[in-house]
Amino acid sequence: MKLYIDSADIKQIAYLHEYFPISGVTTNPSIIAKEDRPYLDLLQNIKEVIGEERELFVQVIGDTPEEMVEEAKFIKRKLSGEIVLKVPVTEEGIKAIKLLTAENIPTLATTIYTPFQALIAAMAGAKYVAPYVNRIDNLIGNGVKVVSEIVSLYSTYQLPTEILAASFKNVQQVHDVCLAGAHSVTVDPEIIAKFIAFPATSKDVAEFKETWQNRYGVNKTNL
Ligand code: E4P
Repeated sequence: MKLYIDSADIKQIAYLHEYFPISGVTTNPSIIAKEDRPYLDLLQNIKEVIGEERELFVQVIGDTPEEMVEEAKFIKRKLSGEIVLKVPVTEEGIKAIKLLTAENIPTLATTIYTPFQALIAAMAGAKYVAPYVNRIDNLIGNGVKVVSEIVSLYSTYQLPTEILAASFKNVQQVHDVCLAGAHSVTVDPEIIAKFIAFPATSKDVAEFKETWQNRYGVNKTNL
């Protein structure tokens, strides 16, 4: 299981990278636009914070497969270290994924709403697929079931593509796709912050500390 940060907020990325087992950062055009900075400068800054070895996902904007491929190569040239190009799962995107795969450029097929889209993207050579769990739920679908069916299809056809589940609004959705067999998840910082926080845990920790201090004195640790 790999955990990615779905954000381009440098402060939040730096904090979460320090405290959580993070494998990289995913962005999309809306996430980048929110930061209101020259995008290449922002992307370079993210890379500096997370390090060369962690993946940064950047989405192409072009309409045609050729534009997407050109953009992908431009982004790869401008940024160092592990970069994965996000390509929408349209007909044009599938062709771009095929072309980029032929040149060993890793891709993630994004905006996945159906298991069949994920199957075709994997056959085209996508390294990752990103099913949009909460957006599927909002369409009266079932995002977790979509993830589970992709797991089953990839197992049936022995496809090496990894499921990087995206678009979450709560911790329960993240938990459910992990149980369904997603290889990784990308999550908004506000939700990652809720992964660990649990009132009973905080209460237990406070009780242990109090009994310890009552016996050994304030500010005494095991040292
Ligand atoms: C990640 O690849 C997606 O762009 C992102 O998770 C979408 O999340 P949202 O539905 O919260 O915008």
